[in-house]
Parts: sequence; C-alpha cells; structure tokens
Amino acid sequence: MDVANKPYLGADIPKLGFGLMRLPRLHDPELQESASSAPAGDQIDLRQTAQMVDEFLEAGFSYFDTAYGYPGSELAIAKALVARYPREDYLLASKLPAWAGAKTAAEAEAMLTTSLERTGAGYFDFYLLHNLGQGRTKAFDDFGIWDFVQAQKRAGLIHHVGFSIHDGPEALEDLLKAHPEIEFVQLQINYADWDNPAQEARRKYEVARRYGKPVVVMEPVKGGNLVTLPTHIADLLRKANPGASLASWAVRFAASLEGVVTVLSGMSDLDQLRDNISYMRDFRPLSQAEHKTLEAVVDALKQLDLVDCTNCGYCLASCQQNINIPGIFEVLNMYLQFGNLDFAKGQYGWNTKVLGKAGAGACIACAKCEAVCTQALPIIERLKQARQLFED
Ligand SMILES: NC(=O)c1ccc[n+]([C@@H]2O[C@H](COP(=O)([O-])OP(=O)(O)OC[C@H]3O[C@@H](n4cnc5c(N)ncnc54)[C@H](OP(=O)(O)O)[C@@H]3O)[C@@H](O)[C@H]2O)c1
Ligand code: SF4
Ligand code: SF4
Repeated sequence: MDVANKPYLGADIPKLGFGLMRLPRLHDPELQESASSAPAGDQIDLRQTAQMVDEFLEAGFSYFDTAYGYPGSELAIAKALVARYPREDYLLASKLPAWAGAKTAAEAEAMLTTSLERTGAGYFDFYLLHNLGQGRTKAFDDFGIWDFVQAQKRAGLIHHVGFSIHDGPEALEDLLKAHPEIEFVQLQINYADWDNPAQEARRKYEVARRYGKPVVVMEPVKGGNLVTLPTHIADLLRKANPGASLASWAVRFAASLEGVVTVLSGMSDLDQLRDNISYMRDFRPLSQAEHKTLEAVVDALKQLDLVDCTNCGYCLASCQQNINIPGIFEVLNMYLQFGNLDFAKGQYGWNTKVLGKAGAGACIACAKCEAVCTQALPIIERLKQARQLFED
C-alpha cells in the first residue's frame, strides 16, 4: 500500500502526520544563543526541525499539526517549513483555544490572525477549535467562534473546520449534533486507551463514524508512554516482531482504523521520524494476529495501575504552586514499573528542586489542574501518593 490514503476532506492525505507539539529542543549553547533573539521559538532546535521537515516531505508525507498554544511551534514551523517550501507542497493545521485567556470575542478571534502571522502560511488547510468539552466549550459559544470560523472559511483563510476533544463520547455526540457543519474531529486514539474507561477512545471513534466525520488521531503513542513499557510487556511485542519498534505498533494500530485521515505522531527527533517513516511509507494495517498481541499487552498494562499522564503540559499554567505535575507522574510511573525507590527519589529531586519546580508536598488541593487535565486524572490523589513515596 502507498503512503496515500483514500481521499478524506478532498485530498489524498498520507496516514502519518507530523504533530508539532513536541519539537526537538536545543542543547547546543551556541545555537541557543543565536536563536535567543527569536520570540517564542527560542528553545526549539530549528536546524533539526528543518531536517525533519525535509525528510518527512521527501518521503511523501504532507500533514503538519500546530496550534496557537504550543509554545514556539508556529514560529518554528514558519522557519522550518513555510519559508522553505511552496505553499501547495504541504497541508497545515492550527487551532484556536478560545478558553485560553480571551476575555472578548475580538480577543478570541484575534488568535486566528496571530496564528496566520506567526506561521506566515496565508491560510490553514485545517483549522480546529482546540480542546472542546469539560467547561471549555462555553468560550466558543459565548464568543461566537463557530460562526466566526465559517466566515473565515468563506473568506478563504481556512479550508476545512474541525475540533479536537478529550471529553467523553456523550459530549462529542452533543457537539456533532449541534454543529453538523464541522468537517472532521481530532481524537486521542491509541491501543491502551481504546477500551480505557477514563478515555473511551473506541466509543468516541464510533460516534465520529456514526456522524460520518473523518478522524485525525492525536496521541497515538500516548504521549510517549507506549515506548517506555516495562520489559516484560515490551517483550510481548519484541517476541511477536523482533524488527518492529514499540512506536510502530502504536502508530499502526491507529492508522489501521477505517475513517482515519492521518495519525499525528509527536516526533521529537530525527530518529523517531526515521523510524516512523520506515514503516509508514509502505503502510500495512495490523493483522488479526497483531491485534491479538496488542490485546495481551493491554491486559498486562492494566495490572500496573500507572498514572495515565501524557505529559501534554496543559495543567502546568493552572498550578499557582509551580508543581511539576507531569514530571512527578513520570517518576511515579517509573517507580510503579521498575520498583527502584532510590533511583526514583533521585529522579524526583531532579524533576522538582533541580528544575526549580515544587514537589507534590506543595499541593494545596485547589483542583485547578484537574479542571483542565486532558486525561481527567485524579491529580491531587496521585500527588499524595508521590509525596508519601518520595518525600515522607
Ligand atoms: N488538539 C489537542 O488537544 C491535542 C492534544 C495533544 C496533542 N495534539 C496533537 O497531536 C500530536 C500527537 O500527540 P503527541 O505529541 O502526544 O504524540 P505521541 O505520538 O503520542 O507521543 C509522542 C512521543 O512519543 C515518543 N516516541 C518515541 N518513539 C517515537 C516514535 N518512533 N515516533 C513518535 N514518538 C515516539 C516521544 O517521546 P520522547 O521523546 O519522550 O521519547 C514523542 O515525544 C501533537 O504533537 C499535537 O500536534 C493535539
Ligand atoms: S491541586 Fe495542587 S497541583 Fe493542582 S493546581 Fe492546585 S496546587 Fe497545583
Ligand atoms: S496531568 Fe493531565 S494535563 Fe497535566 S500533563 Fe498530565 S495529562 Fe496533561
């Protein structure tokens, strides 16, 4: 099979998309200095990003997904992609987060202008209302953003309008009923969340299919969690196919679903990009035997009681105590998987004090983080668990 998909949204879109939320970061002090005059794109490794863009396009892929709210991402893609390739060579998506600080309709609408200015793209092939549900939809309703994006579509600044959502299947269905004009949805789909009651990926996918909406997949590797499996679980996959990367199982699972436009992989370096290209260039849907292997992996994962944090970082801005919530959960998961308390305590100190962040003990249980958590995690309770393990 070719990289091209059957046409959705009027184009043959290859099944692997480039998620621009986790671009490579600079470690070279010389590059850091030379890039530091750039506004918000300063920490992104532009040289590596440009090389990733080159190899991605060269391999026949075309879909890039950024957002107003991804720090530095729109500016980085302006330099690495927009300034270096003819506009018709790629498809670019961005997103409008009306709930993120806009106090008036004009401020919310201005996010589109800002995204267009930052990227220099002229128009967006795909434009999404970002992260609907859980109380955030109100901002889009109050500011009339649904009508605004349709008007911008008629004006040619947007080609296709969709939305992303982490809320449940009922919320998704209510939105699709209320807004039949929406052309596609972006959903978190991966094999671990397919039947996970906290995510209900399967039910959301089924709702989208029932309403005839093509799906763009986000977080196919669960933000990286599905490549850091405990050895005994990873071995199930390695035994089934010694040559396949752990990421390939996750990306291929999502790409195998009917109605999926493309799978956005949040690739953070060239090696990840090359790995993904290697199996998605000549994409093969999962076989029945491969599905069975993943079922065994999911059963084994259920035994671990890990924190389902995807390190999306959405909670960080809401924590006035400056607690490194995803950093703490990373350590907690490491401990729950490997049981090495001394090592975990060392890593905990690094992810909190050394990085200038507060630890779990600073939590005042205000629950502001829980209101925005994309995974609906019981953050306060899990922080208590971390405090008892690593601070007491
Ligand atoms: N609309 C929304 O609300 C929303 C929310 C989240 C994401 N998104 C979009 O969806 C995209 C994808 O989500 P995501 O970034 O969470 O993606 P993901 O593909 O689930 O996770 C990416 C992470 O997986 C790890 N990884 C290891 N090997 C890999 C490989 N071969 N290929 C890919 N990843 C590998 C990397 O983590 P390490 O580098 O740590 O190993 C990488 O940063 C985002 O970039 C963003 O564009 C949208
Ligand atoms: S509940 Fe704790 S971690 Fe969450 S925002 Fe409040 S202080 Fe921060
Ligand atoms: S705790 Fe929730 S919002 Fe925060 S990084 Fe993890 S998944 Fe994202």
